[in-house]
Amino acid sequence: MADVKKVLVLPGDGIGPEVMTQVRRIMGWLEDAGKVKFEVTEGLLGGAAIDATGGPMPDETLTAAKASDAVLLGAVGGPKWDDLPFDIKPERGLLGIRKELGLFANLRPAVVFDALAEASTLKLDVVKGLDIMIVRELTGGIYFGQPRGIETLPDGTRKGLNSLVYTTPEITRIGKVAMDLAMKRGKKVCSVDKANVLECTVLWREEMIKLQQEQYPEIELSHMYVDNASMQLVRNPKQFDVMVTTNMFGDILSDTAAMLTGSLGMLPSASLGDADANGKRYALYEPVHGSAPDIAGQNLANPLATILSFTMMLRYSFDMMAEADLIEQAIQTVLNAGIRTGDIMQEGATKVGTVEMGDAVLKEMDALAKG
Ligand code: NAI
Ligand code: MG
Repeated sequence: MADVKKVLVLPGDGIGPEVMTQVRRIMGWLEDAGKVKFEVTEGLLGGAAIDATGGPMPDETLTAAKASDAVLLGAVGGPKWDDLPFDIKPERGLLGIRKELGLFANLRPAVVFDALAEASTLKLDVVKGLDIMIVRELTGGIYFGQPRGIETLPDGTRKGLNSLVYTTPEITRIGKVAMDLAMKRGKKVCSVDKANVLECTVLWREEMIKLQQEQYPEIELSHMYVDNASMQLVRNPKQFDVMVTTNMFGDILSDTAAMLTGSLGMLPSASLGDADANGKRYALYEPVHGSAPDIAGQNLANPLATILSFTMMLRYSFDMMAEADLIEQAIQTVLNAGIRTGDIMQEGATKVGTVEMGDAVLKEMDALAKG
């Protein structure tokens, strides 16, 4: 009997519902194939929630998220809600749910599909076959450290202040996420810091070394200053397997890595919380892109970023590696066949819409399952 997996689906705004529909079809396919049983709850977040309830993160959504095994989000926001005060904007719903679930680890893979390697702005041999994972600390560091703020000194000078703060438990838990991931990949972790200038990251480096020595003897741990890491990412990104870094450095490096791969429409992400005593951890999966209001409702959006976010869910929340591989292989075949949404369109390729891209992936899944 197939396991029951509780999934909260939050389609959100703009292209969110359109791309999510394609994921729901793939979930249905896996159920029909007898691989798994999903218990899906649909919830409201962002602008859709504001319209229905007055706020971007209704209590029911949060309760459902906590009761689920994993959350899958489309995207939130759009011009309709742009003039609302900051506190009740759609994006607050996203920040709120991340905070409430304690999602401290942000996983951003940068994978270059062979068929799209030529679309990169970098040379083909630099990016072809690229498959790296950036693990960004998400709930600490300079974005949250105290004291912070802007003050006026007695002499009238104004002073802006933010604090870079990490404690040993915060460093160790993000280090563990990175090293656990690396154990299932190339067993290499590069920890990125600025230990030549920032004391806080001297501690970061010391704790990473301690963790590796005490718990991950098989991991090859290296260290890099963030300025060098940014150069190496565009010079020779294939030297990396897993990179782990602070909130701010990860924000910047993950966007750099993303651009090695081409389109926003291809980029998935995962955000993980702490595991409880039973090994259950909160997890949220979402594409990197936003709600793309400029193309919403026109069957133009690329659903692959959200489908790939779903395959991350299969891997990291449900340990369904074979099914994740099947879907990713189907995507690879579809891309190799020259099927493209507008955002990844290339000369000589066949341009399709959101639904047709879903059709093509499902058709390849059928073919692969039949062998
Ligand atoms: P965006 O990612 O929505 O769009 C940027 C550009 O990329 C647009 O031209 C869009 O058409 C294109 N694009 C994005 N995803 C695509 C896809 N799947 N297929 C094809 N083309 C795609 O970023 P933008 O325009 O800065 O923000 C639009 C709205 O989304 C704003 O309200 C913003 O606050 C929100 N947003 C939400 C995020 C989230 O929910 N995680 C993240 C980023 C922005
Ligand atoms: Mg960013």
